[in-house]
Amino acid sequence: MRVLVVGGGGREHALSWMLSRAAAVYCAPGNAGTAEVATNLALAADNSDRLVDAVHQHRIDLVVVGPEAPLAAGLVDRLAARQVPAFGPTAAAARIEASKAFAKDVMARAQVPTAESRSFTDQAAASRYIAGHPEPLVVKASGLAAGKGAVVCRTRAEAAAAAREMFGGKFGAAGREVLVERFLEGEELSVLALTDGEGVLLLPPAQDHKRLGEGDTGPNTGGMGAYTPVSLATKPLLDRVEQEIFLPVLRELGARGARYRGCLYAGLMISPAGDPFVVEFNCRFGDPETQVVLPALAGDLADHFWRIGSGEPWRPATPQLAAARAAVTTVVASQGYPDAPQKGAAISLPVTSPPDTLLFHAGTTRDAGGALRVAGGRVLCATGLGHDVAEAAAQSRALAEAIHYEGRVFRRDIAWREVRSSASRLEGRPS
Ligand code: AMP
Ligand code: GLY
Repeated sequence: MRVLVVGGGGREHALSWMLSRAAAVYCAPGNAGTAEVATNLALAADNSDRLVDAVHQHRIDLVVVGPEAPLAAGLVDRLAARQVPAFGPTAAAARIEASKAFAKDVMARAQVPTAESRSFTDQAAASRYIAGHPEPLVVKASGLAAGKGAVVCRTRAEAAAAAREMFGGKFGAAGREVLVERFLEGEELSVLALTDGEGVLLLPPAQDHKRLGEGDTGPNTGGMGAYTPVSLATKPLLDRVEQEIFLPVLRELGARGARYRGCLYAGLMISPAGDPFVVEFNCRFGDPETQVVLPALAGDLADHFWRIGSGEPWRPATPQLAAARAAVTTVVASQGYPDAPQKGAAISLPVTSPPDTLLFHAGTTRDAGGALRVAGGRVLCATGLGHDVAEAAAQSRALAEAIHYEGRVFRRDIAWREVRSSASRLEGRPS
């Protein structure tokens, strides 16, 4: 089988790495890491004309789309019109991520638990609503804003300012519609599921660290690290997530003529009482969650991708895929990330990596002389594997420490909640 992976970040390196065990892989545009497991094609992920041409030129059997933008722009629809199987939702189904207002409407109809919210296209109406809203509260641009469109506000004044900025064009067209939402307390959990629109196969649940600084402080980022498994995600909780969240949402999308095929990502808040609420849906694999979820699995997912993408009969073998091992990834970012990432620094990688590690590239490139250089905000993802999360975290950190370039930034505490609670369990005290 010949597979084209669309995208060029850490997620796409992990997807290419996994698929290369079962298929000949091409990656567009890829990065310096995907070049080691795939053939990179110098095509932007949003250039659907050139991508469709490349599919024919390279006799691609299956396209796997990584990022949300080409999905929302209809790449899968274009491929389907040419009878090219693709793993990923159509534009109509990708609205579950591309329009938060649409996602809220789907959830309301499907009676899926989520934060109470209202959407506005008019700033004055939003301001009036904010003035009567309890604090804290959350203001969100409805459209795609590269993960930066949600602002958690301690006060109504902060919320009013955030809404003003969004209506003022801070996120372009994504901020033409703005949601004002109740703040949910609890712990976040990312659950990714493969689906053909009817059946679902949950992948090992993960937790992402969105803040730049250790102890979950500082500005929000695309994600500074992730780990799996998460002890909060018990089997009974995951059964509820499947029955009360994934299945009703998929049925509702199907009823609207937007059958969902691909990976559906539910960003959840688990309340202090242990109930799952949806914070957001993403129409794709998570980044950096993929860099732990795929290595944690014993097998590869190529056959699932093929069946879902081609419309062949697909029966999820088990309702949930168990992780064979724990995995932790530490994102190594560039100086100035997330506001003003600096590119160009020369990267030195360890000659031999620590045991039980995998290095996924994100923002890297090779210059004309073949030297590896920083080419983005999130540069490398250092994944460690182990019997438990503490062991995997230590390996991940060891690999991150062994990477050198000017201005390197990374967190040394990825998976801290899990490591702390397992340490206190061993010592017999509450965490
Ligand atoms: P989103 O873009 O909707 O995923 O939001 C980004 C981040 O903002 C989430 O991962 C949460 O950390 C936080 N967030 C969003 N909505 C809420 C909410 N209703 N309550 C608490 N935190 C939220
Ligand atoms: N890790 C968050 C995301 O992929 O959107």
